[in-house]
Amino acid sequence: MSTPKPWEHAKSGEGSGTDPLAARFVESLSYDTRLYAADIRGSIAHAQMLDRVGMISRDDLAAIERGLREIQREIESAPAGPRAVGVRGAWPGWKIDLEDVHMCIEAALIEKIGEPGRRLHTGRSRNDQVALDLRLWLRDEAAPALHSALADLLDAFKDLARRCGPIVLPTYTHLQRAQPGTVGAECMAWWSMFARDANLCSQQETGEWGLMASPLGSGAVAGSLLPLDRHAAAQSLGFATPEQSSIDATASRDEALDFAYLLSRIAVHLSRLAEQWIIYCTTEFGFLKLGSAFTTGSSMMPQKRNPDMLELIRGRSANIIGALTGLLTLCKGLPLAYNRDLQEDKRLLFAAFDTTLDCIVMAARVVASAEFDQTRIDTAAGGLDRGYLDATALAEHLVLRGVPFRTAHQIVGSLVRECEATGRDALSQMKVDEFNAALHAAGFPKITIDRTVYDVLNAKNVAAAYKSAGHAGSGPGGYRDWLEADATHKELMEQAQASSERPGRDASTPAPAISAAAMQAAAPASLFGGEAEAVDPAARRNADAALIAAYQKVGRTLDDLPYTTDFDAMHSQFQGAGTGLTKRTALQRLQNLRKAGKLPPAGRAASTPPRISEDEETLLRELVIAMTGSLGQRDQLPYDPRFDGLVEAFNQQAGRELSPHDIWRLVAKLAK
Ligand code: ARG
Repeated sequence: MSTPKPWEHAKSGEGSGTDPLAARFVESLSYDTRLYAADIRGSIAHAQMLDRVGMISRDDLAAIERGLREIQREIESAPAGPRAVGVRGAWPGWKIDLEDVHMCIEAALIEKIGEPGRRLHTGRSRNDQVALDLRLWLRDEAAPALHSALADLLDAFKDLARRCGPIVLPTYTHLQRAQPGTVGAECMAWWSMFARDANLCSQQETGEWGLMASPLGSGAVAGSLLPLDRHAAAQSLGFATPEQSSIDATASRDEALDFAYLLSRIAVHLSRLAEQWIIYCTTEFGFLKLGSAFTTGSSMMPQKRNPDMLELIRGRSANIIGALTGLLTLCKGLPLAYNRDLQEDKRLLFAAFDTTLDCIVMAARVVASAEFDQTRIDTAAGGLDRGYLDATALAEHLVLRGVPFRTAHQIVGSLVRECEATGRDALSQMKVDEFNAALHAAGFPKITIDRTVYDVLNAKNVAAAYKSAGHAGSGPGGYRDWLEADATHKELMEQAQASSERPGRDASTPAPAISAAAMQAAAPASLFGGEAEAVDPAARRNADAALIAAYQKVGRTLDDLPYTTDFDAMHSQFQGAGTGLTKRTALQRLQNLRKAGKLPPAGRAASTPPRISEDEETLLRELVIAMTGSLGQRDQLPYDPRFDGLVEAFNQQAGRELSPHDIWRLVAKLAK
């Protein structure tokens, strides 16, 4: 007979832990202990909220906080590691009969502090608890770890470009030789791909992408009769708002789906890299040599150097994509709200996360070991100039002399055929006269070309001659510009981290106050993604939470706020926090939050704007368009100094005395 579960005291009759198979079947402890830090942090926030609304006493709260922190220390100092279960040196509180991380921690707390521990679960269920824990873990542990591994990979590509950048090799389309490129340009291509993934990670960290409101306080499904303050709890955990629907909050795993998609996209990118470099490592290509630590021999064939690490990266992408498919299938057809099926989400998600992280780290090591070999590239497959890599360059050379591109394309096509017919395998083997004969035959007797044509023939010449931004060659506009961009990705991340503390990241951090750094983080440069990398995500989140809280307190819809005393009051509250946030930037941040669907609906309906005539409407429309270009840009108007001029112009020409607020309301109405 197993230990009675803490929540079973309320049940009549026997407990459910009587069948050993059922106990093993139902548990998730064997794979969910990694949620312990998130679980403890969520519990402390919940207890603080219970204290604030008078559901537990100050003393209860103090005991709960002390107990949970002790438990965290015990878990973290377990000799076998915090996550180990059922082995020597594991934290003794991990008891498989208690099913999961949540019950084990709560049971340990009750054992430690007695009755106050029995009050912690007030107004809460494991259903909102596990939904919360998963989001905290994704946002504060998984996404940053992934981001940091990606940053290393990104930097490895930059280093490779520094080592081997100028080496010229073919680029391919359809796996057929296309135009000349450089190793630096190839590095820039992989970098661009993984930089998009890193960006998505940082959006996970800020909650800009993914479903990131707080489920806490949703209870089992339908909420609670107790006066829970869900907003306060959400904000103390760094969420802008609580989830709107208790039913959906406990039923949804969209955050897991989004994250699994991100993992899958990374896996797909990694598998493309793996495939390409496996090909490069063949005898037929021979472009690339990997560090001997990352290749293996054969048990039978003594000469082999197999790119097993790359093959495993390519192969493991199957597991990761499988997890996404698994999660989608898990959620498909699931009725509202929580069903135990959802417990399987963690098995899939954690495995996919671990695999992806391993693959990124391994890829970074492989990239760091990679050496491209110009001599091999020059001789592979009959030579770098096999395949007429310079044909497009020759056509463009003719274009620069006035030949229409379509015609130039035909001329070069005929020259290639002539080369082939006369046993030559490169355009550079043709004479100037032959080029001119082809030009004249195509109907351009007045255009002649000279020996400068040879400057754009042969792969290496072409690689040096590209001009368009982002090209694959070696000259200005290509990978060197990207390389010279000053900071490494790691440095950018560190700067962002140093720019502000990360409140809410560990259990001992008190609820965040508005800090100057947080307000800086809300400044418009970061609003439109321009300097997103340089802003600490936690600081931005806190600033947003503060803005949203103030907005809700005023309870006036956003379009109704500009040029009101309500907004002035809101603004001076931010000023009071010692920030340089202007009215304009505060408003723009709110507008952006609204666009992102993060602004809760405000209570009070907008005031009705004054009536104006059709002529006056036309006048106003013209003035707005003159100032911003279109009515669609109206959000930029409030608190732009030019808006005062617009108000004055309107009143003067219409013979009116409307206030800036009235005019703003009219503009908002016009735009609708
Ligand atoms: N370990 C469980 C999970 O991951 C906790 C939820 C159990 N909830 C319940 N109503 N039985 O989903």
